[in-house]
Amino acid sequence: MTDTTGREAGLALLREHALIAGEPVTSTKRIAVDDPATGEILGHVPELGVVETERAVHAAHDAFPAWSRSDPHKRAAVLREWARLIDENTQGLGALMALENGKPFEEAKGEVAYANSFLKWFAGEAERLIGETQDSPLGHVILTFREAVGPCALITPWNFPAAMLTRKLGPALAAGCTAVVKPASQTPFTAIVLAELAQRAGLPQGVLSVVTGDAATIGGVLTASPLIRKLSFTGSTPIGRKLAEQCAPTLKRVSMELGGAAPLIVFADADLDHAVAETIKGKFRNSGQTCVCPNRVYVERSVADDYARKLAEAVSKIPVGGAFEPGVKVGPLIEDKAIRKVQDHLALTKASGGAVLTGGEPHALGGRFFQPTVTFGGDDALFRREETFGPLIPVFPFDTEEEVLAKANDSEFGLASYLFTRDLDRALRIGRRIEAGMIGVNTGLISTAVAPFGGVKQSGYGREGSIHGIDEYVDVKQVTLALR
Ligand code: SIN
Repeated sequence: MTDTTGREAGLALLREHALIAGEPVTSTKRIAVDDPATGEILGHVPELGVVETERAVHAAHDAFPAWSRSDPHKRAAVLREWARLIDENTQGLGALMALENGKPFEEAKGEVAYANSFLKWFAGEAERLIGETQDSPLGHVILTFREAVGPCALITPWNFPAAMLTRKLGPALAAGCTAVVKPASQTPFTAIVLAELAQRAGLPQGVLSVVTGDAATIGGVLTASPLIRKLSFTGSTPIGRKLAEQCAPTLKRVSMELGGAAPLIVFADADLDHAVAETIKGKFRNSGQTCVCPNRVYVERSVADDYARKLAEAVSKIPVGGAFEPGVKVGPLIEDKAIRKVQDHLALTKASGGAVLTGGEPHALGGRFFQPTVTFGGDDALFRREETFGPLIPVFPFDTEEEVLAKANDSEFGLASYLFTRDLDRALRIGRRIEAGMIGVNTGLISTAVAPFGGVKQSGYGREGSIHGIDEYVDVKQVTLALR
């Protein structure tokens, strides 16, 4: 039975306004936000423009001196209180995310915990903004301080509406930065509730604003403003490139978490049942709409049929449905064009000789639902170039280590990669040679607040989470003391 109480808890939190310096802002021009499962309009957010975005930027600028000089232990306390309020609202936030994103309710509640882990981690990092002392060859003593870079623009995606926001805001606020957040127009409601909870947790007015509206207009203002000193963006490589260009004239600090086309490699010595289970865990997070999802699976030829058969059997049993149906693991895709992309990738795979082992059709539920699909064989070139961002796993056999390494690296992307083998030597040998920022060995799950998250090549630069995440939001300042 559909969980209607969950749904109602989500709708109860929905707010149809943006937030500038703590004040709700509305507009006669509005953007509709729908439930991807049904296409039903859930509500609207204001379509803010240049004037309102500039107001948010000025608020962040005005709030910066006091916040950046505040006691980091106080900032940590605000982050911890914010995390406590989020924990308290897990049901409602999870439901709201399930409504606007379509991800299963259970998974959405898991994302609330994941999102919160960044706030808890970076509260600790605020308390560890440690500098250094050093003797200079000039006879002086050098002190280093890690100081907040300034007001930040944080542009967040629709696939993880809570976790991508806290993964950026956690370190920004811990470091003493102020921020203007632009959430994705498909999933703005989660960001608004999170910002309201941050205010309730004691975040001073102006430190955080959430502006909703046209991405190009708002992104244009944020990137052009000399008052914004740092941009962090999660999204597609083409948009990331454009934003980086727009940041160049003002020489902003920039972090980019962009697209991936992750290879997952299974060697013949791997535990195949485990590899199958982990492939599914990694692939079907957020219904296959994750930038670290395995996009192409390479299996050593002697076990390829076996692996593909086991995978197809398991994938054919994955429950698909609306977010509030019990037991559901795969939901709808975010928009109609996402379905068309899966269909295109499938058609090209079939045209190149790939066979469909399970799925392969729009789901009987209709709309934006697609059957979890496994294909075998055909040409892998498309999957090196483009991420499917949907519930399709193409499996390709390979013969040698060198061949599969060459294929894994023959991509402009370098975000995540996965290896399955019992041979530690090989795991390290290949792991070190794969061009990616993150490698999972015998696991399909690599994302946690304590691990550095980020890519190489056209997957972007900068690291989020871990002990490195806060470095993106601090400048190192040296003070040289001549002691007399
Ligand atoms: C993403 O898809 O952008 C991030 C996913 C994650 O945190 O694992």
